[in-house]
Amino acid sequence: MNKIIDGKKISLERKEELIKKVNELKSKLALVVISVGSNEASKVYVHQKEKMALEIGYNFLNLHFDNILEDDLINEIDKLNKDKKITGIIVQLPLPVNLNKDRILNSINPLKDVDGLTNNNLIKLIKKEESLLPCTPKGIMTLFDYYNVDFIGKNVVIVGRSELVGLPLFHLLLNKNATVTLCHSKTKDLSHYTKEADILISAVGKKDLITRDMIKENSILIDVGINRYENKLYGDINSECIDISNLMTPVPGGVGPMTVISLMENVYLANSLQMRK
Ligand SMILES: NC(=O)c1ccc[n+]([C@@H]2O[C@H](COP(=O)([O-])OP(=O)(O)OC[C@H]3O[C@@H](n4cnc5c(N)ncnc54)[C@H](OP(=O)(O)O)[C@@H]3O)[C@@H](O)[C@H]2O)c1
Repeated sequence: MNKIIDGKKISLERKEELIKKVNELKSKLALVVISVGSNEASKVYVHQKEKMALEIGYNFLNLHFDNILEDDLINEIDKLNKDKKITGIIVQLPLPVNLNKDRILNSINPLKDVDGLTNNNLIKLIKKEESLLPCTPKGIMTLFDYYNVDFIGKNVVIVGRSELVGLPLFHLLLNKNATVTLCHSKTKDLSHYTKEADILISAVGKKDLITRDMIKENSILIDVGINRYENKLYGDINSECIDISNLMTPVPGGVGPMTVISLMENVYLANSLQMRK
């Protein structure tokens, strides 16, 4: 059996399905990405989102500000919230440090919050109500669905507790009846937990944080980490772990493509949720 979870292939299959559904809509959906400052990595990510959005058949707008005051940015978001032609709004992170990220994110209409990062959408996620999920956790849950992973009686260990990845995943998996442990930088003896994991998810950003001696045989390994080293990309999980694992996501080509397609699926879902209102 092929042990590599081919996120690229799965995301392409989903992309084809999404294009068909989008083609059937009467009006064109639109995604807006707001960016502030001059973060080089952000420019690359915005470009990737633009490319994919156009391929799906959405309109795309990058609203860029070199500098902007917090209240002015919130006013801009409010205009987009009220604009019926705009389906989804993203604020590209990181924001410059002088801007209050939480206040800005929470000014997005939750029905247009296609990154799933507003408090409103997080509460719905915890309460198992239909909502726009954060894209990386949504993409990972899609992979689990694809492989029909059953969580009952399984130990899931997540390393990393960010609001973007680890924390929402904790709740999503708990809601699927997994027994979930959430580890972070203050966890003592990380391998004590990882060795017990039937499913191990690492979302830290440290190359080789997880090594072969730290994992359980036949486990499922999901590597969210992206680490650039000598011009190559690596995850957090050492690639030798695949020898004793059941399934493993590669970096690149695993979780990354699933994150991007999940964003595009969220734009479609946002439209459905707005129509129902
Ligand atoms: N593939 C994708 O689509 C995708 C999407 C998003 C992010 N990423 C990548 O995933 C990684 C994590 O992203 P993020 O936004 O969640 O990062 P983040 O906000 O920096 O969070 C990192 C988490 O890792 C924990 N941590 C740090 N060192 C640790 C250690 N030695 N042992 C255990 N836990 C440790 C931190 O603990 P504390 O909370 O205690 O500080 C924190 O909870 C990054 O490499 C990022 O580039 C990939």
